[in-house]
Amino acid sequence: MQFTTTQDSPVSIGSECLLLGLGEDKRFGESLTEIDQASNGFFSRLLESGDLPTKAGKTILVHGVPGLTAARVLVAGLGKAEKLDGVAFYKLMQAVGKALRASPATSAHCLLTEAEVCGRDLAERTRLAALGLAHGNYVYSATKKPADDAPPSTERVSFPAADGIEAQLAIAESVYAGIQRCRDLGDLPPNICNPEYLADTARRMAEQHQGLEIDVLDEAQMTELKMHSLLAVGQGSANPSYLIHLRWRGGSAGDAPLALVGKGITFDTGGISLKPRDLMEQMKFDMCGAATALGVMEAVAGLKLPLNVDCVVAAVENMPDGKAYRPGDVITTMSGKTVEVHNTDAEGRMILADALTWTGQFVKPAATVDIATLTGACVVALGHHASAVMTQDDELAEELVAAGTEAADRGWRLPLWDDYQEQIDTPFADMKNIGGMPAGSITAGCFLSRFAEGQRWAHLDIAGSAWQWGKPVSATGRPVGLLVQWLVDRAGGWSKIAH
Ligand code: BES
Ligand code: MN
Ligand code: ZN
Repeated sequence: MQFTTTQDSPVSIGSECLLLGLGEDKRFGESLTEIDQASNGFFSRLLESGDLPTKAGKTILVHGVPGLTAARVLVAGLGKAEKLDGVAFYKLMQAVGKALRASPATSAHCLLTEAEVCGRDLAERTRLAALGLAHGNYVYSATKKPADDAPPSTERVSFPAADGIEAQLAIAESVYAGIQRCRDLGDLPPNICNPEYLADTARRMAEQHQGLEIDVLDEAQMTELKMHSLLAVGQGSANPSYLIHLRWRGGSAGDAPLALVGKGITFDTGGISLKPRDLMEQMKFDMCGAATALGVMEAVAGLKLPLNVDCVVAAVENMPDGKAYRPGDVITTMSGKTVEVHNTDAEGRMILADALTWTGQFVKPAATVDIATLTGACVVALGHHASAVMTQDDELAEELVAAGTEAADRGWRLPLWDDYQEQIDTPFADMKNIGGMPAGSITAGCFLSRFAEGQRWAHLDIAGSAWQWGKPVSATGRPVGLLVQWLVDRAGGWSKIAH
């Protein structure tokens, strides 16, 4: 989807579809008023007859409105004014993008940025609107071609010209490229998106973006480094494991980078602690932490962010096999700390343990954020609405939660108090890899914290936010938005991004 600006009046614009909004107060905004007048009260009559939606996210498409050049008008309900915050606005823009996709229109003109959105200025509304439209317009097509009579995607969307809007739209295009990268990888089936596919994707990204550099460590190199915890998880799989390292050097040469560490379990059967058969196919989403880290790098390179950013992805498949690691095994991690395996299905923390140690040792970051679909308990706690933020660093927690709110891609903090640490004690090793039923997401975070000692570190559990129920159950592209916002904040804000 391409974004442009135009000075044209909505009455005479050549786009195939006008996009407008109406709140529950039923007051016509500037453009709706103008269009209503040009069409001799067409929309006033629709409002009277009760045909205009006002509830948030409801839409109608009307054809052949007299007095307009545009072939159709899509009106979206904005809901109650006091409820229309950034998240609600982003959601309803996604619904508009979806409705637009279901129509024959291939171009549109968006007047929804006229809406008043709590605490959001025109630049923010424009970014959210563009991101939402692009998001809603997407239909999976990697392994299923659309039907011959399927409606086309919307190629071009224009916005009313105003100061700085072109720049906001260019920013949105780069951020969306990252979100789309993340969704594409998440939705791909595990027989295609295996560890090697993740490595190849990162290599292709490095080819496409000047300034993005890549290294991929294979199993021999990881054996050399004693990354036995990561390797243990992969040893039951016929697909070799990789550690992928992408670097972006947009900042000063001496500045320590910010690091993103992604869980890239391309399929999680549970291993010897085999998962039940129902819904196991959803474990193709278990590489969404990796997909997020790669998606953020895509956006960072597109935005030419003036920062140094490193991305480390542990790409591994968790399978049961004669060679698989087993419950009872004691494994010496790269850090030297020993782990007693109580459940081979708690594999994410095993691979992240070594990935975090490697990052601390070779990247020497100013701060590290790991991203992982780590625990089912996180879905129980927060559902699909928020990523869990865990860290012992209050300031970092604050930064991440604020970035999520700003980007309409929310995070919510869970405590990482020392009180929980004893749940992973065992007489046979420095720790065990599960902490029992209580606070399963937090004890997973406690486990990771032991491999991030000395680093300024936070953990995002995205087990719920990375994918959503629906038809189909699909990847959301989250939390790319949250993390891009966090990085942009570190660079001094959107005004520091040249476009
Ligand atoms: N990948 C899963 C977590 C998960 C579950 C993500 C559901 C998304 C939806 C993870 O590897 C896992 O299996 N965790 C176990 C941990 C347990 C064995 C302590 C879990 O949550 O059941
Ligand atoms: Mn698992
Ligand atoms: Zn997993």
